[in-house]
Amino acid sequence: MKNQLLLLLLIGNLSLTAQNNYQPAPENLEARHWFQDAKFGMFIHWGVYSVLGDGEWVMNNRRIPIKDYEKLPDAFNPTQFNAAEWVSLVKAAGMKYITITSKHHDGFAMWDSKISDYDIVERTPYGKDVLKMLADECQKQGIKLFFYHSHLDWHHPDYFPRGSTGNDIAGRPASGDFNKYLDYMDAQLTELLTNYGPIGGIWFDGWWDHKLQGKETRVDWRLEKTYELIHKLQPACLIGNNHHVEPFAGEDFQMFEKDLPGGNTTGFSGDSKIGDLPLETCETMNHSWGFNIYDRNYKSTKALVHYLVRSAGHNANFLLNVGPMSNGKIQPEFGKTLREMGTWLDTYGETIYGTRGVAAAVRDWGVVTQKGDTWYVHILDWQDAVVAVPTQGKKVKSAQLFKDKSAVKILSETKDMILLQLPKFDANEWDTVVELVIGQ
Ligand code: GLC
Repeated sequence: MKNQLLLLLLIGNLSLTAQNNYQPAPENLEARHWFQDAKFGMFIHWGVYSVLGDGEWVMNNRRIPIKDYEKLPDAFNPTQFNAAEWVSLVKAAGMKYITITSKHHDGFAMWDSKISDYDIVERTPYGKDVLKMLADECQKQGIKLFFYHSHLDWHHPDYFPRGSTGNDIAGRPASGDFNKYLDYMDAQLTELLTNYGPIGGIWFDGWWDHKLQGKETRVDWRLEKTYELIHKLQPACLIGNNHHVEPFAGEDFQMFEKDLPGGNTTGFSGDSKIGDLPLETCETMNHSWGFNIYDRNYKSTKALVHYLVRSAGHNANFLLNVGPMSNGKIQPEFGKTLREMGTWLDTYGETIYGTRGVAAAVRDWGVVTQKGDTWYVHILDWQDAVVAVPTQGKKVKSAQLFKDKSAVKILSETKDMILLQLPKFDANEWDTVVELVIGQ
């Protein structure tokens, strides 16, 4: 028992050595900067599970045996998929990048994998490489493409020892060679980073399947090797990992799931302190990632604009998810909301893109974003007709409304605070933005 414990601790420690001496390449640092300026991306969860319309966890949740789940690809025929339409929607929404599932926990490859036949080209009647089509279209329309890639795999025989999920899925052998599985994962990542043009980043998920405590894990995920491989193939490719703990060495951005940085309403982020890397937070438009026909809990455009603005104020990007249907279409409810967000950004984008959040000024009523000498005070939830803005010892030269440049009265000023007199409350305005010009 004692020896086993020691072994576990040792393995846990091994995983901490992920790219310990990692020095990001100049093009990586440049890509991080681009990422922080970009602010808004589309998350896409798409796989053969969309046929069942019950989310991307359906294999686990309904305990579908491997041999039955393998029939889903036969029914996956997205003849209405149109990459140009998707990317145009991304642009209309004011988004700058896409993060799409190359492989989710079900293990099915959404591209033409050569080292496995469990992929869209070989197993579906559709038979086309949707990731290739999307990558080409992204290039054409100037949108960066990231891949979400699941560490965890409910299908591969060598994903053993099993983790905390997928244990009731019949047809999984009770033995396997985890290193062989990791070789397979690295080989698939090599395909994705070799044949699809420049890739903005790899967004890992599923590490938590073997999580013990904090950063301790039951298996050696060989993160160092995988991260090195990615940075060798494409130095500018940003690595993020949704492990729900503080970033490991070798990662280039830190993500939060369904919570703003520092928040933990989901219970996922308890071990995740905010570090120094660029930040991102992801959220759903209803309550599902993969297409879910039962879920009609759509968030309003206003609520999602607020989430975007609050993310920017927390110095984080906002990655907003759609789960396309099995016919290849993005459902109309999502399209409508995304276009409305884009219309809002047509006017207010200047106060979001290229800004950095003033994290110390996060308040219940809203947030502050900053670009050069300009601070944008975003008043989202009105409480009073006056608002006290923390200024961190900076001198405020002038205050005006962003939308029409009319002067905003400064009622009083101390070293660290100014008190603004707000204009008349307008219920139709989702975000009242006051522009402050800051001096020394
Ligand atoms: C969770 C889920 C996964 C989803 C991800 C998105 O980790 O396991 O299904 O893809 O969140 O953030």
